Amino acid sequence: MSTPPPDLSIELGSLALRNPIMPASGCFGPELGDVVDLERLGAMVTKTVFAEPRSGNPAHRLAETYAGMLNSVGIPSRGAEAFIAELLPRYRTWSPPLIVSIGGLTIAAYLEIAARLAGVAGIAAFEVNVSCPNLEAGGLEIGAVPEVVEAVVRGVVERVDVPVIVKLTPNVTSIAAIARAAEAGGATAITAVNALMGMAIDGRTRRTRTGTPTAGFTGPAIKPVALRCVWQVAQAVAIPVIGVGGIATVDDVLEFLLAGASAVQVGSATFTRPDTMLRIVTALETRLADDGVASVRDLIGALEPGPSAHDLMPAQAG
Ligand SMILES: Cc1cc2nc3c(=O)[nH]c(=O)nc-3n(C[C@H](O)[C@H](O)[C@H](O)COP(=O)(O)O)c2cc1C
Repeated sequence: MSTPPPDLSIELGSLALRNPIMPASGCFGPELGDVVDLERLGAMVTKTVFAEPRSGNPAHRLAETYAGMLNSVGIPSRGAEAFIAELLPRYRTWSPPLIVSIGGLTIAAYLEIAARLAGVAGIAAFEVNVSCPNLEAGGLEIGAVPEVVEAVVRGVVERVDVPVIVKLTPNVTSIAAIARAAEAGGATAITAVNALMGMAIDGRTRRTRTGTPTAGFTGPAIKPVALRCVWQVAQAVAIPVIGVGGIATVDDVLEFLLAGASAVQVGSATFTRPDTMLRIVTALETRLADDGVASVRDLIGALEPGPSAHDLMPAQAG
């Protein structure tokens, strides 16, 4: 009798996904459907949509750095109406659930975009991006203050009738405290994390290498920080966690699952190889089968206590 293939399906509250692999916001657009089979993804995630049209940051918007990249895109958005009229119909041609990322520069702006997109057909869930600067608090990120996060999440949850995922910034002292605030506000799940705050300088010209002095640091270099954040958040809340930060291989995915993530997002790695997510889906199925793991859900939070003997330095290992 042949063994059935491993079960890759997971649940984020009422949202059922065929596998735990999805793109990270801003690193994927419907045009990717021209080169890879989007039907094989667990879910799709849009770039952050604002209520009103806004332009992004001045050039340069991208700078490469060791093992990662800096972006100062600044979230340009064509606004809610253009999203509904032009982008949403393209996303709706694929069957994986569509998670729409929303943002704002004030608490009221989050409630506005949630109200405008509430009830719109084809939206399976919202991901609230709280890494936007809070104009009412001098530009401090919305996601830096637990009370503000709780108010934003509660307001969005009151206005929409689909699951609300909250995507946290790592640029805080206690990500666990922010996660608890999101859970208290009624979040269905937490995504951890958005870009780390970084900076790159050209020593010859004595100028920053991005159009804004500081920029979002992403890619392989941030994986240990993202993993730590996922683990801390998973310890702090009872709702599911979606891990993101530096994921490029099936081994990265396994690490995030063990740290407590129920699903993962792939960001910067998609720029290097557009088919990264699909390669991971295939590799995940093969790996679980090889390891005799019946369901991907068996790995969520299954981290064993203590360090791995393989990683001990020879002197420590004795
Ligand atoms: C070019 C670029 C644009 C991004 N735009 C958004 C965005 O609109 N909303 C958001 O929540 N995160 C955005 N992010 C952050 C990613 O979704 C992700 O959290 C981050 O890149 C870490 O994952 P990675 O290391 O796999 O790239 C962006 C990242 C990059 C590199």
